[in-house]
Amino acid sequence: MSLWGGRFSEPTDEDLKRLNDSFGFDRRMYGQDIRGSIAYAQAIRDAQVISSEECDQICAGLETVLAEFETDAFVTTADDEDIHTAVERRLTEIIGPVAGKLHTGRSRNDQVATDLRLWTIDAIKALDALLDHLQRALVEQASVHTDTLMPGYTHVQPAQPIVVAHWLMSYFWMIARDRDRLRDAAGRADVMPLGSGALAGNPFAIDRPQLAENLGFSSYSQNSLDGVSDRDFVAETLFALAMTGSHLSRLGEDVVLYSNPGFGFIKLNDRYSTGSSIMPQKRNADPMELARGKAGRLLGNLTGFMATLKGLPSTYNKDLQEDKEALFDSIDTLESILPVVIAIISTLHIDVDRCRSALTDDMLATELADYLVDKGIPFREAHHLVGEAVRQAEETGTTLTTLSLEAYQQISNHFEASLFESLQFEKAVARKEAVGGTAPTAVQQQIEAGKQWLSEWNS
Ligand code: ARG
Repeated sequence: MSLWGGRFSEPTDEDLKRLNDSFGFDRRMYGQDIRGSIAYAQAIRDAQVISSEECDQICAGLETVLAEFETDAFVTTADDEDIHTAVERRLTEIIGPVAGKLHTGRSRNDQVATDLRLWTIDAIKALDALLDHLQRALVEQASVHTDTLMPGYTHVQPAQPIVVAHWLMSYFWMIARDRDRLRDAAGRADVMPLGSGALAGNPFAIDRPQLAENLGFSSYSQNSLDGVSDRDFVAETLFALAMTGSHLSRLGEDVVLYSNPGFGFIKLNDRYSTGSSIMPQKRNADPMELARGKAGRLLGNLTGFMATLKGLPSTYNKDLQEDKEALFDSIDTLESILPVVIAIISTLHIDVDRCRSALTDDMLATELADYLVDKGIPFREAHHLVGEAVRQAEETGTTLTTLSLEAYQQISNHFEASLFESLQFEKAVARKEAVGGTAPTAVQQQIEAGKQWLSEWNS
């Protein structure tokens, strides 16, 4: 018997049950559901709807149900439509008809909204710890490579020399923003809808501010119609998760590229590389491809759920049950990717010589323009003159460092022998000293700023 079967004379169709039931995926909210019910039992006791003895019985029974879930001893029945009905069904078996008093003034509408908010806050906290690990792994690798030169790219074309630490730290700041966004989303989830009833509110004068405090919520909803249907926090969380996934996909792409023998800058530890069943030489970066690929489903969960929300009429509608699979899947996806990405970054081998030997003289063209700027030439003109030098080098099979001084001086008499001193990768990097640049001194400051960020975040 379902909990709402009283008005029906025929049993529910089996196909409808399969479509309608959510216990298969919402049972993982058992902890939050039982926490919510214990607090609610105390609220209706305080409102003198149930006696202290009845409340004690209900709470003890709920603790037993909780223990059953936690030890995998909970036995499901065909009538367990969702986590809320399953807990109440089992509670009734354990303590008898008094269990029927728990749901007084409450609806599954305010119950599920409360459960999912508690779940989201817990999930974000767990994910935040993983992101913290990733940032620490990045800082650790970066600290070793503040002087390791590598090519920097725009459009995947060689651009200017940078240091490896600068590349690694760029991801540190992406993750910092992700953590910030997730914390924000958790803040918006931190509003208790319980006491909204089905839609109109609670008729038993429960003390909602007290109930919110007991459940660890910072505040409570101000409008019961909005309270039961507000899933903005789910959409926001899905966005923050999709953005995180998008950052991990970019890191994935960089690692795939840089570990390609054509680049050869990095090598994945054997434990985190995969081989080919036919080509014995292969060392693939499958996990980073998965990090790249799974960004797609994170985005899908966000857009799918946004489409579900659009145009819904006021208050609770069953469409909202779609919130959970999207959210659970996005959280699970990141929880599967992150431990591997963290391990890959921590164990990454950076081939210092390959990084260095991939630098080509053309990446110094901007340095040469800056050299002319130092001599008072407007940058636009300098850019043009160096462009001519690049063309001549290309045509004569030389490079910017082997093109003759005479050739340079034919282009402009501002070029002097000292130009060759500006054509050094170390110098090029060292000049980018303004905060946020790739000079080793600036990168060391950046790493300190990163460490400071981490310690402030956790304080
Ligand atoms: N399983 C439902 C959900 O996830 C719980 C709320 C059901 N409410 C209702 N009026 N049918 O949304």
